[in-house]
Amino acid sequence: MRLAIQHITKRFGALVANDDISLEVASGKIVGVLGENGAGKSTLMKILSGYQPADSGAVVVDGQPLAMRSPQDALRFGIGMLHQDPLDVGAFTVVEEFMYGLTQSLRLDKRHGRKILADVCGRLGFTLPPDVPVVSLSIAARQQLSIARLIALGVRVLILDEPTTGISEDQKAALFRALRDLASREGLTVLLVSHKLEDVAALCDEAVVLRRGALVGRVQMPCPQPALIELMFGKPMEVQRHEGKSLSGAPTVLRFDGLTVRDGRLTIENFALDARAGEVIGFAGLDGSGQAPIMRAAVGLVRPERGTITLNGREMVGQSYRDFLAAGAAFGAAGRLEEGLVRGLTLTEHMALATERGALVNWGRAAALTQAQIAQYQVKGTPESPIETLSGGNQQRVLMALMPQQPALMVLEQPTRGLDVDSARWIWAQLLARRDTGAAILFSSDDLDELLTYADRIVVCYAGQTRLMNNDGGLDSATLGHLIGGG
Ligand SMILES: Nc1ncnc2c1ncn2[C@@H]1O[C@H](COP(=O)(O)OP(=O)(O)OP(=O)(O)O)[C@@H](O)[C@H]1O
Ligand SMILES: [Mg+2]
Repeated sequence: MRLAIQHITKRFGALVANDDISLEVASGKIVGVLGENGAGKSTLMKILSGYQPADSGAVVVDGQPLAMRSPQDALRFGIGMLHQDPLDVGAFTVVEEFMYGLTQSLRLDKRHGRKILADVCGRLGFTLPPDVPVVSLSIAARQQLSIARLIALGVRVLILDEPTTGISEDQKAALFRALRDLASREGLTVLLVSHKLEDVAALCDEAVVLRRGALVGRVQMPCPQPALIELMFGKPMEVQRHEGKSLSGAPTVLRFDGLTVRDGRLTIENFALDARAGEVIGFAGLDGSGQAPIMRAAVGLVRPERGTITLNGREMVGQSYRDFLAAGAAFGAAGRLEEGLVRGLTLTEHMALATERGALVNWGRAAALTQAQIAQYQVKGTPESPIETLSGGNQQRVLMALMPQQPALMVLEQPTRGLDVDSARWIWAQLLARRDTGAAILFSSDDLDELLTYADRIVVCYAGQTRLMNNDGGLDSATLGHLIGGG
């Protein structure tokens, strides 16, 4: 199957999201799609997979221009896409969701479904429990389910939009092995949109780079990272390092003592931590290792079974999320369009939700504040943009912009998930500025370099066990990766 994109152009109002893009990809190739936030990557992928029409240009397969009006059309031509944000799910179990996608019918033979699911998972190296509700799955597992379904549907072009956010190194290695295998054995063509240049280096045969809607480069992999970064941003960037600093004498902002929290079947027992003003504490661990309930306990979203939580000297156990906010805590959730942001609402409406307290919303004030935050956070969007029309990275910026300006404690799940290198640094500059005015920061990340670059101390979580490490130069990513895996 030979895939060709011919002169694709897509505008949103005055904005040219895709600017006359042409590209040919041979069967069995794995191509990285790179570019800064808002460069037009997802737009192009959605056009390729039938989720939205181009204004002009064509998608051509084996010399045949495709008439695509829907994702179902694209699937019939063998093109399938895994979305950047996992789709909303209903009350289905894993096998029901899997079968529904295959047949669009709820009258399913579950035994048959289980068998196909097990076969595909075997090919992909995934383990998905067939009978649990999809809502109880992690982001990683939901992505795996979507990929398994696309493979079962027989796609010959698989589009993955940032598939490695929130999955473990092991799961990623298994996924990449499976993709390489499918590519070389069955001629599967893979387009991988990613901000993780290591992932592109590990998986891809070549990479294309978009900048402001235009295709600005195509390189064979391996290609040195600095060269890729310069292509993406039009400027070089140097490496950042962790700077140790003295926190002696800084007051304690958050104290956990004898904290016991549960997360499904996992129990984290007797966890103790003192987070001081000006301190950054990173949480490392595979999805579901215990970091989420600990972090969420710090903002009142998870109630501990035992132990004490002190925030700025106040005992907080039993208090509500609102009480935690009032006491100076701020929280940013990992699931952007699931917990943090609301589909269908504009940026101004989000701002009103976050800041307006009275019964009557002062829309003028909310709009002015939104305009100011858009400028400060360099969001590509307008106050009237519905949140889902922003690119993934820009949604993340909005999430940050909605946070209180002077929190005592910031608890952030995956704060730079989906951000390009430049934006991630920029977000960290904002966070470190708040740290420097005395905020304590707790954050989780699946990016080992991010943990090593920004955390003063790192809590490694593995299967509910925790280990607190100083990040004082003795720790490197190989060791950290080993500990995260239970080593
Ligand atoms: N439905 C839409 N309505 C209006 N503007 C849109 C819509 N979809 C995308 N855009 C705009 O088009 C531009 C490209 O967005 P796109 O999602 O393709 O970027 P991206 O390269 O995937 O970025 P990211 O790395 O942040 O995911 C952005 O400025 C975005 O706000
Ligand atoms: Mg995108």
